[in-house]
Amino acid sequence: MAQLTLDKLNKRYGESAQVIKSIDLQVNSGEFIVIVGPSGCGKSTLLRMIAGLEDISGGGMYIDGAYVNDDTPSERGIGMVFQSYALYPHMNVYENMAFGLRLAKLPADEIARRVEESARILQLEPLLKRKPKDLSGGQRQRVAIGRAIAREPKLFLFDEPLSNLDAALRVQMRMEIAALHRRLGSTIIYVTHDQVEAMTLAQRIVVLNRGNIEQVGTPLELYDHPANEFVAQFIGSPKMNLMPATLLTAGATESVVRLWNGKELTVPIPTPASAEGTKVKLGIRPEHIEWGSVADAPYLADVLFVEHMGNETYHYLDSGNLGEPWVVRNPHRSAVAPGDTVGYLLPPEHCHLFDDSGKSFERRGGGAVAMRVPGMDAPAISFAEPMRTNVIH
Ligand SMILES: Nc1ncnc2c1ncn2[C@@H]1O[C@H](COP(=O)(O)OP(=O)(O)OP(=O)(O)O)[C@@H](O)[C@H]1O
Ligand SMILES: [Mg+2]
Repeated sequence: MAQLTLDKLNKRYGESAQVIKSIDLQVNSGEFIVIVGPSGCGKSTLLRMIAGLEDISGGGMYIDGAYVNDDTPSERGIGMVFQSYALYPHMNVYENMAFGLRLAKLPADEIARRVEESARILQLEPLLKRKPKDLSGGQRQRVAIGRAIAREPKLFLFDEPLSNLDAALRVQMRMEIAALHRRLGSTIIYVTHDQVEAMTLAQRIVVLNRGNIEQVGTPLELYDHPANEFVAQFIGSPKMNLMPATLLTAGATESVVRLWNGKELTVPIPTPASAEGTKVKLGIRPEHIEWGSVADAPYLADVLFVEHMGNETYHYLDSGNLGEPWVVRNPHRSAVAPGDTVGYLLPPEHCHLFDDSGKSFERRGGGAVAMRVPGMDAPAISFAEPMRTNVIH
């Protein structure tokens, strides 16, 4: 177990732009941290800096309080699984996993125990004698994970370790990695761009964007209280809908916005008086939009397309010239078809508000506040009811 501190960490490649921009992060001993962010945001670079494979351009890095900027990778006691798993082509699976342990001059029986245990965990036992070229991509990835596990490091770094696995194996490996974390109690920093992996594995998630940390928090903190539009749209799938609005009346407990269609909506979100009259965005997740009857609902939209997932249905509503379609998630099967017009509601207690720069106006009290706006709420229709009755054809 190791504690890791990053203090204003910077990375610049030559004269090119800064790739990591003054990152502060404290990873607690035994913690499972997941770093998420879009391609190119600096995830692998940050991980390689922690591992000692990339020079640090500025700032300090500490493991258990000791300054390690100048330590070699092996001195840092870190096991890393790379995005491009570099296996030794001339060694078989067993030898690949044992190599680092032999270098460290561990006794032969200890090497055998660790390699066999790693192979068992990762279901590699039947493949131990094969060379990497005779393995599938997913199998090679598991060998790379096994090689790191066998080293029993105090800090594990994983760079997208499951990206080459099929969906079923990915779920299984996710559980194996979670179990491994519980069993070894090691500190894990895990990089992925898959937000489902982040939500399911992390104790805390770090959202990285263009070399900056946008927000750090537990999966549900980020989901319920995204600090800004970027986090709001990055965490959660399908992503949060954003609708243009103007802040009409600011308030200490609630605010009134005028939406793109001229309707007013009161939301239980405090805003400062200085923001009155400014452009804002109303955010609402696909699972929080409710259907209303076409006759009474405050909002109507044409359905562009419908995705039937079996266990749930996604409806993509035409947002006119406002940008991307808005998505409504129905947790049941749906008879709504493309070309239909539907009525819908935006429950105020599930709405988020973002200012012109994308920063979130924080909701009060941590949880959802049950509040309805008189006159704005047509009776909501349960998702379980047949939808055709609420549709204009
Ligand atoms: N050796 C290098 N010289 C110059 N720029 C580099 C170098 N290595 C990486 N970069 C740049 O740094 C940025 C971050 O790269 P990095 O590999 O850390 O991204 P990432 O978040 O891991 O992306 P992905 O999800 O695609 O793996 C990219 O813009 C990349 O082009
Ligand atoms: Mg990467």
